[in-house]
Amino acid sequence: MKLEDIKKIAVIGAGAMGNSIAQVGIMAGFSVAMRDIEQGFVDNGVENIKNSMAKLVSKGKITEDQRNECMSRLHPLVDLEAAVKDADLIIEAAPEIMDLKKKIFAELDSLAPKHAILATNTSTMSISEIAEATSRPDKVLGMHFFNPAVILKLVEVIKGAKSSDEAIQVTYDVAKKMNKIPVIVKKDSPGFIYNRVTAPTGLLLQRILELGSPAPEEFDAAFKPFMPMAPFELLDYVGLDIVYHTQSYFSKTLSPDYVPTKALKAMVDSGNLGKKTGKGIYDWSAGRPQIDTSNPTKEFDPNHMIALQVNEATKLIEEGVCDDPKEIDLAMANGGGGIGPFTLAKSIGYETLIKKCEELADKFKAEVFRPTKTMREGKITV
Ligand code: 3HC
Repeated sequence: MKLEDIKKIAVIGAGAMGNSIAQVGIMAGFSVAMRDIEQGFVDNGVENIKNSMAKLVSKGKITEDQRNECMSRLHPLVDLEAAVKDADLIIEAAPEIMDLKKKIFAELDSLAPKHAILATNTSTMSISEIAEATSRPDKVLGMHFFNPAVILKLVEVIKGAKSSDEAIQVTYDVAKKMNKIPVIVKKDSPGFIYNRVTAPTGLLLQRILELGSPAPEEFDAAFKPFMPMAPFELLDYVGLDIVYHTQSYFSKTLSPDYVPTKALKAMVDSGNLGKKTGKGIYDWSAGRPQIDTSNPTKEFDPNHMIALQVNEATKLIEEGVCDDPKEIDLAMANGGGGIGPFTLAKSIGYETLIKKCEELADKFKAEVFRPTKTMREGKITV
């Protein structure tokens, strides 16, 4: 199969990621079926696409005619069979629950054409395990977008144990046609590249929430000047339920250090999940929260977060998930709009970063924060 053979894409799930991926698909010229289990979810997804398209028209990035042409390629629906029966590529963007994903993939396998590639947008989970629910594991792979998918360039194309080179190449080419920057992840490993590198910073944030100090706003005040979105604000933006599922998955696959704290669980149980529900750590009912930067914490600084990310990135090299530090930097710079960890390590110096990791490992009794052998050697450069 080649790029030219991909004419119709089906996106399974019309939530925050699903509708954004569907939008990217219609804007790249594909016909896209966007499917969810209830008409209300489908309608919300269409509404989000319309709002985003209106933003692009008002900014002069696309014309009214282009918008209308793109929207004519969108086919919102509830009927799964109708959505996938003639699809060439299917991208699943359902909740992060392994049993649910396996059930969906078994259904897709029976309903989709034999040639269709079945991709999952999972944030963290094993592609190989999902693939085992189908009779075509060679055509199952990860195609992981970043939120908001319309803006952020990174797409991780992840190889499962049995994914064929052909399926990986076609998906890579589709991502390029979508005007994205695809990075191939050669080894199926929890969190792949981006979410693995940010795993320990997610852990640090949930431990700080548990301690109750510093307050999220004081913490964010110290970071806001350096990042497109401050750390706690970003948790809300991604969705606290997703953060919870991700950290929970890491607790089973990487280290028990990641077990979600009571504070995070309580927030998820309360139903206040962040931007998508209008309230989370911050109030989003009137749009992006206004973070007061007048009282930043003195206890933490950006080097603490950078140190944890550089350290985790060295684990990806040690474990053979990615053998090129430049690829890791490319992924990190395009998945969240920052600077890659190894580029930062070069300017800050490994000695400073090692001290920060040690300090955090002792303070939070978290061995995942402890510097790796590669980190201590401090030789990786880009
Ligand atoms: N549709 C169309 N345009 C949009 C848009 C949307 N949904 N959202 C933002 N934009 C446009 C705006 O119109 C604006 O355009 P301009 O530059 O021409 O003026 C531009 O994007 C910037 O938006 P804003 O002016 O609203 O300014 P912000 O600074 O608030 O940008 C943001 C919003 C793009 C979300 C930016 O804050 C950002 O990049 N944040 C970081 C997000 C991030 O790190 N995401 C990764 C999360 S991890 C993940 O997704 C993995 C998963 O597995 C969990």
